[in-house]
Amino acid sequence: MIFYLLYYGVESYPLSATDLEELLIQAREKNLSLDITGSLLYCEGTFIQLLEGPEDHVRSVFRSIEKDQRLLACKLIANDYIQQRYFSGWSMHYEEVAAKTIKEMETYPIAEVSSYLKQSPAVKLLKLLNRNK
Ligand SMILES: Cc1cc2nc3c(=O)[nH]c(=O)nc-3n(C[C@H](O)[C@H](O)[C@H](O)COP(=O)(O)O)c2cc1C
Repeated sequence: MIFYLLYYGVESYPLSATDLEELLIQAREKNLSLDITGSLLYCEGTFIQLLEGPEDHVRSVFRSIEKDQRLLACKLIANDYIQQRYFSGWSMHYEEVAAKTIKEMETYPIAEVSSYLKQSPAVKLLKLLNRNK
């Protein structure tokens, strides 16, 4: 059984492109050694991350993340067991999303695409997190 954990965190100071690159190199190296895969979304100072792998390893990495000085606050959204990994090919997939892009995606001229995106949990979550911006 694969264990997954989803959380969001807010950066404690504005992270530069180099800071993010270093963070990702460090995370990918450790994840590879711990059989952890997942995805990290970054949207204007907020991270949403999915970690998947052996439960003890995922929980231990999350404990490190909770103590990480680069994050102000860290909130667990969900954790459970899954049959298969969503990001099996990724020691940590990374994507930066602008709040503007989320708005653009929702007004995409193909109805199926825009209505799908409006219902997407990731988009809903990112919108919720950015509602005060
Ligand atoms: C947003 C964010 C995401 C992170 N993701 C990971 C990750 O996927 N895997 C990982 O090993 N460390 C990740 N880290 C780094 C950890 O917080 C920690 O610095 C690293 O695991 C080394 O911890 P240790 O010194 O306790 O071994 C992340 C840090 C931040 C701020």
